Amino acid sequence: MDYSLLFDKIYIRNVELKNRIVFPPISTNFANPDGSLSERFIAHYERRAKGGAGLIIVENSCIDWPEGKKGAFQPRIDTEKMIAGWKELTERVHKYDAKISVELTHPGYEGKDINDLTDEEISFLISKYVEAALIAKNSGFDMVEIQGAHGLLVNKFLSPLTNKREDIWGKRLRFAIEIRMGIFERCGEDFPVTIRLAVDDFKEGGIDLREGKLIAEELVAKGYDMIQADVGLGPKELRLEPISYKEGWRSYLAKEILPQKVPVAAVGMIRSPETAVKILSEGADIVVLGRTLIADPDWPEKVRRNAIKSIRKCIGCSECIKARHDEDVPIRCGVNPNVGNEEELKPVTEPKKVVIVGCGPAGLEAATIAAKKGHNVVVFCKDFGGQLEMASVPPGKDKLKWLSDYFSDEIKGYKNIKIVQTEATKESVLNEKPDYLILASGVKPIVPFKTDGKRILSYQDILGKKLEIRDKRVVIGGGGLIGCETAELLSLNNRVMIIEMLDDVASGMETISRNHLLNRLAKNGVIIHKRKKILELNEREVIIENLDSGEKEKIGYDIFVSAFGNKPYIPFETDGFDCDIKIIGDALEVRKIVNAVKDGYEAAKAID
Ligand SMILES: Cc1cc2nc3c(=O)[nH]c(=O)nc-3n(C[C@H](O)[C@H](O)[C@H](O)COP(=O)(O)O)c2cc1C
Ligand code: SF4
Repeated sequence: MDYSLLFDKIYIRNVELKNRIVFPPISTNFANPDGSLSERFIAHYERRAKGGAGLIIVENSCIDWPEGKKGAFQPRIDTEKMIAGWKELTERVHKYDAKISVELTHPGYEGKDINDLTDEEISFLISKYVEAALIAKNSGFDMVEIQGAHGLLVNKFLSPLTNKREDIWGKRLRFAIEIRMGIFERCGEDFPVTIRLAVDDFKEGGIDLREGKLIAEELVAKGYDMIQADVGLGPKELRLEPISYKEGWRSYLAKEILPQKVPVAAVGMIRSPETAVKILSEGADIVVLGRTLIADPDWPEKVRRNAIKSIRKCIGCSECIKARHDEDVPIRCGVNPNVGNEEELKPVTEPKKVVIVGCGPAGLEAATIAAKKGHNVVVFCKDFGGQLEMASVPPGKDKLKWLSDYFSDEIKGYKNIKIVQTEATKESVLNEKPDYLILASGVKPIVPFKTDGKRILSYQDILGKKLEIRDKRVVIGGGGLIGCETAELLSLNNRVMIIEMLDDVASGMETISRNHLLNRLAKNGVIIHKRKKILELNEREVIIENLDSGEKEKIGYDIFVSAFGNKPYIPFETDGFDCDIKIIGDALEVRKIVNAVKDGYEAAKAID
């Protein structure tokens, strides 16, 4: 495929971008608690510039400290005291011929509706955007971006749902226009200002796409220099999409507001270069790649070199969102262990023999990192990808396969990796005479009721062996993530019930994705029993006990599926090995992909 459209130059006002690839604001929580920039923060953006993005837009930055603060580690751009730190960032990004912008954000005052703001307060707020833009300009930024979407302050002024004012500020565009005018005045005609614009609120009575287009035209007429066609006040899952959303699903927002006299950017779930090029060929001027460049900052460079298969695509695991929004801690990435830790690995001078048992994400990450450092690697690999294969079977989870596809290609690039396609035995591993042994052998399912392959099954029969089940009453024992996803799959053709002992199902998942999953289960008619214990399973009934009332109940079933989770699995005793041994991933403790990949990385990194 021809990807050259991505690499055409483009101007935002007077500023030339070397390509059409923009990294959007993604809050990292890498700044210091006092709003100053840490080395980790700067290195994160520098790395994305090094990877080839044409424009980097730094995450939402505080223009009105502390009243307008959002999150525990938000950077501040409201005071000249911060200029030195910002300057270092802009200089380091500029080294790579990338341009840099910063998102100026205000969430509005806590507990104060915009309709209750006084004239003075509104003028003050506008002045804060303008001052922040000047600080940005003096720090070496090429432009600034106004956050006018996601239900934040500017969006609230723009939307008929939230702006009910009857004074001049009831002219809903006025707030955004005054900000632009103020920046013209203080920063000059040649300092561009872009806007992340809610062109559709996705909420009854809010901005719709027809009005969104008119708003965009008016804001452009008043001097805005690029429109990022984004979403407004509506459900969070439309702006922080869970895994099942289709690639590029909301690029139509950019298309529908065309033509404009300035560049229009499409954003949201753009993962593969094919999708990105298609969006450009349909009229958008720029593609915005957020999580895509978190997962692989080298995406632009890899596409330019046509090394498409080597791209480590974002799989939509939502770990970054969980860290930022659920936990308010520094972000992490399910597939990229270097997020927040942008280090270069040094090649070793004396290669060692590293033997790895298992080829799920932990084993494969360990193998590629050890090989990258120059070690000789042997991987005992019976089922390539480990649990990724089964995890990608439930509806909407197919993107998980992208990770095993990536590893499969990556491994081919290393001549110093030997794959042994059999189950590891103690003898076969000893025969390899390892200097280091890494056990990444994964899990075995917990199956308290003996399976018979017909009526009493384990989740592996459904997701692994893909047994076809139709028009049955299915009871699933266990409402963890696996139980819920197995339930979703089976609920497409059956009547399904989940029995869970704990207070809740699918706990531990990121909130938006979890709600999305639970809504789909409800829509498919899945009945969920919480705080109920399975006492007995006989040929026709499951007998359960209510943990609160002690009441017992009999539930008839046609098919029973065990989804009680997994336990670590190590295939042999480790005595008799005369080498360092490290247990990683689920073989150490049953956790998630993010932990498996991180364990694999750290284990291989430590071998010198
Ligand atoms: C962890 C995380 C933090 C984000 N922080 C911001 C932010 O600070 N400001 C903003 O406008 N959007 C933020 N976003 C939204 C992204 O900029 C982007 O619009 C969204 O992730 C969809 O694009 P993508 O699928 O390419 O990631 C954030 C997204 C994620 C995943
Ligand atoms: S954490 Fe998951 S969703 Fe976020 S960028 Fe990484 S792979 Fe994508």
